[in-house]
Amino acid sequence: MRIGVLTGGGDCPGLNAVLRAVVRTAEKQYGSDVVGFRNGWRGLLDNDAMPLDRPMVHNLLTRGGTILGSARVAPQKLHDGLGRMREVLDAHGVDVLVPIGGEGTLTAAAWLSSEGVPVVGVPKTIDNDIDGTDLTFGFDTAVSIATEMIDRLHTTAESHQRVLLVEVMGRHAGWIALNSGMAAGAHLVITPEEPFDIEAVCEMVTARFERGHRHVIGVISEGATPKPGTMPLRDGGLDEFGHRRFTGVAQQLGEELERRTGKEVRTTVLGHVQRGGTPTSFDRVLATRFGLHATIAAHEGHTGQMVALQGTEIGLVPLADAVARLKTVPPSRLGETTAFTG
Ligand code: F6P
Repeated sequence: MRIGVLTGGGDCPGLNAVLRAVVRTAEKQYGSDVVGFRNGWRGLLDNDAMPLDRPMVHNLLTRGGTILGSARVAPQKLHDGLGRMREVLDAHGVDVLVPIGGEGTLTAAAWLSSEGVPVVGVPKTIDNDIDGTDLTFGFDTAVSIATEMIDRLHTTAESHQRVLLVEVMGRHAGWIALNSGMAAGAHLVITPEEPFDIEAVCEMVTARFERGHRHVIGVISEGATPKPGTMPLRDGGLDEFGHRRFTGVAQQLGEELERRTGKEVRTTVLGHVQRGGTPTSFDRVLATRFGLHATIAAHEGHTGQMVALQGTEIGLVPLADAVARLKTVPPSRLGETTAFTG
């Protein structure tokens, strides 16, 4: 058998570990081989391929990013290119395609599968917002990085009696803010799931200083929004993929907070540092197990499926089900945080 692989969307620590596991399992267990397509779906449209064998994936376990490169491709371009993608897959003798990606890549994978292309999906994203899997690899690394950065902000905030706001990634889901905020003892966590009330934020900050505390640490997801009509947030419009362009919610919240409370506020935007560098041991293991089980699924004919962490086991869920909705933070988890912060 020949497996085709590609990595799509934003990169994520652990992608290389999946590639390594796919190649090693395919060769060792099945005597199969693997071809990689560069830069996500673009590699399939442009016939930009590279053979992947064991020497090629040597030393990849600890390496962040993806040796295949990654890119976003507009859905319309993909739909128009179905015939071309079939031709390229046939030309390379690919029996099963394993796309490794987030919401966009897996939605495209589900569509390809519905068009009759044999596909096994692998979920990745630091945002942890793919449904049907308990976790995605990359998330643990991003939370660890964010936690370390927030830990460091406590002392400087205390020294200056300031409010320090940290903006973390999380377009639609606040998992990174929630977990890094809890791990680093933040006093305020704001996620996209629940629009924030600037009045309530001001009251919390003022009350905390009045109680004699010397600092406030707030963690905010990049995709957070204020309750309508409570404070302005600049509109960045949409990018070519239909994604909202962010305009720096933490900075704007900080300016408003400073104006209303008179407290000094500083803002740190963590940005792509959360996606860079080596994966944590947890993510290396999850990515490796996903690669292993995707390769087994491909050989056993379980196509149209996505590998998923279910408790401690790796199972399969239909791709169509996995992409039907995003996995956002449930109110119960948000409630756990508000129960003791402030
Ligand atoms: O989906 C993962 C993610 O890191 C989001 O949290 C973030 O909004 C987006 O990718 C950033 O994408 P880009 O690297 O294209 O700016």
